[in-house]
Amino acid sequence: MTEMEAAEALAALAAAIARHDQAYHEQDAPLVSDAEYDALRQRNAAIEAEFPHLIRPDSPSRRVGATPAAGFAKVRHRVPMLSLDNAFDTADFTEFCARIRRFLHVPEDAGLSFVAEPKIDGLSINLLYENGALARGATRGDGTEGEDVTANLRTMRTVPDCLPGPCPALIEIRGEVFMTKADFLALNAAQAAAGQKVFANPRNAAAGSLRQLDPAITATRPLSLFAYALGDVQGSVPGTHSAYLEQLRAWGFEVNPLSCLLAGEAEAEAFQAETALARAGLGYDIDGVVYKLDDLALQRRLGFVGRAPRWAIAWKFPAEQAVTILEDIRIQVGRTGALTPVAWLAPVNVGGVLVTRATLHNEDEIARKDVRVGDTVLLQRAGDVIPQIVQVMPDRRPDGAAPFVPPETCPACCSLAVRAAGEVVRRCTGGLICPAQTVERLIHFASRGAFDIEGLGEKSIQEFHGLGWLHGPADIFRLERHRAELLTREGWKEKSVSNLMKAIESRRTVPLDRFIYALGIRRVGDTNAKLLARHYASYAAWRAQMLAATTVGSDERSALGSILGVGKALADELAAFFVEPRNLAALDDLAALLTIEDAKSVAAADGTLSGKNLVFTGTLETMSRPEAKARAEALGARVTDSVSKRTDLLILGADAGSKAKKAAELSVATVTEAEWREMAGF
Ligand code: IVH
Repeated sequence: MTEMEAAEALAALAAAIARHDQAYHEQDAPLVSDAEYDALRQRNAAIEAEFPHLIRPDSPSRRVGATPAAGFAKVRHRVPMLSLDNAFDTADFTEFCARIRRFLHVPEDAGLSFVAEPKIDGLSINLLYENGALARGATRGDGTEGEDVTANLRTMRTVPDCLPGPCPALIEIRGEVFMTKADFLALNAAQAAAGQKVFANPRNAAAGSLRQLDPAITATRPLSLFAYALGDVQGSVPGTHSAYLEQLRAWGFEVNPLSCLLAGEAEAEAFQAETALARAGLGYDIDGVVYKLDDLALQRRLGFVGRAPRWAIAWKFPAEQAVTILEDIRIQVGRTGALTPVAWLAPVNVGGVLVTRATLHNEDEIARKDVRVGDTVLLQRAGDVIPQIVQVMPDRRPDGAAPFVPPETCPACCSLAVRAAGEVVRRCTGGLICPAQTVERLIHFASRGAFDIEGLGEKSIQEFHGLGWLHGPADIFRLERHRAELLTREGWKEKSVSNLMKAIESRRTVPLDRFIYALGIRRVGDTNAKLLARHYASYAAWRAQMLAATTVGSDERSALGSILGVGKALADELAAFFVEPRNLAALDDLAALLTIEDAKSVAAADGTLSGKNLVFTGTLETMSRPEAKARAEALGARVTDSVSKRTDLLILGADAGSKAKKAAELSVATVTEAEWREMAGF
């Protein structure tokens, strides 16, 4: 490689890596697999090693992660949060140990004790405790400055509010926030059912959940934390990393139970092999093992080089890959008409999971990788539950394999499929006449966050739609007409039919925000639906104002666009919905069958909670404590921590203890969680 070529390559790599960092850290939406990303960094490091004088000021080797996103206050870590160098095989690990010995001037056969910790792919956070109390929690950000996510971290059960027993006056405790595989799958299923964004992998789900501007949303997300490192500290800490982990456990943190102290390199090699075998059976994704020198005094002597410590290394597992044939590319139609290409594969085992489908993201991605039907493709699951196509093998391409041509019409309804300028997604324009969209919309309509009709899931909706019973949401409330016929169908019995009909009847009265959300208008998620409901208060007012807002430049249109949090793009989507006569007809048809409660009517229900002092105790089953608090406050109540004479109501969760006793002594009224939900109107 000439100097000129090297300079050009470094410039291109710096730009590419910066783009990937931004997509990964700021948008939680990686563009390439971890292995591809690692390969770019390795190539960058190799060229820099050969041409050190060409290292750029913006070199990726001088940066960690991405700059903090707007929206959260920036926090400077007291001690930078760095990254780890990688090892990929025994030779790399041996070299890592040799480097430590050279640096410390110890004999080649001197023993080194390491703590091994499975490397979870989550996001690292920094918790600052002052005098034992949690003062601030932040994401890593660019390593120097992160985002202040204290309120969100406080909603996590595994983040102690205070450190019991003796502790340093100031200490930064670091760890990894992550989501278990089971929690990730359940969250994605719920998101999909509610028509919300689904996450590509547990890491993105954890990052997206932690970085919510509304902590009440974080509170509903199943986040876990393993603590594993120390930042700044004023006061004494143990002399070894293994003892520090014990201390963290004593303070109430969860430390990965597989973490273990090893006596030397041979044990590390064995641990690596064992963990690789155990990997598929773990409840969370790991991509390697981190080895840290146990002796903290030696760690201090070794210090850092570039962006990584000399005393620790991440020994990565090889990515789980397999080769198979791409049999077809099929198009999936989503609720809002988005067409997504999906790879249909000859079934293949990738790291213990039988894979038959892979995401192809969008047509640009297919073109970039030049994926064609008939191709032999290299698949990979690297932290990603949904496998990715890493590359095609062009030398194994069959003759006549043609490049993918994006559809010009929707495969479900044959309406035109168009790709708007500046968008990567192609959409079906069929709207209400598209059966695929209709089914997806109905699924959304009946889902948990919307009408929440028990027993009316994806399968039944498909069945009823296929029978011609469901054209739009209003037909759900006319299903009773088909009761007799339904009873003759396989899988339906008197009990299940009557339960379904009951569930439908119980939803004839609906709060305005749920009603708006259930319509499945693009960009109107539950948060925006609440904003709209609160702003317009009644269904009649909302409908009238939305109709008026279809006129561009009208007062109503600008009023809609200026509702805090709504904005122009959402205003445009609402206008597009209301301008379509078939939508309006479907809406009126539906509204005529329902009682839509005014947004304020819930809070005002009978005014019982407004101005009242509430205390929660015990474990609530249907919502987290922060969510309960936020909801109570939204109804005008005050929430305090302890029961006193001034407490008006104590809400008893499971295993309520001393507060219940105190309430009885002071004759404070108590209710169960179910009664509280009833009172609060949800
Ligand atoms: S220690 C200076 N320990 O890996 C030490 N990191 O590649 C820095 N990670 O940013 C971190 N498990 O997000 C450490 N047991 C563990 C870890 C771990 C996962 C992540 C963490 C860090 C990244 C570095």
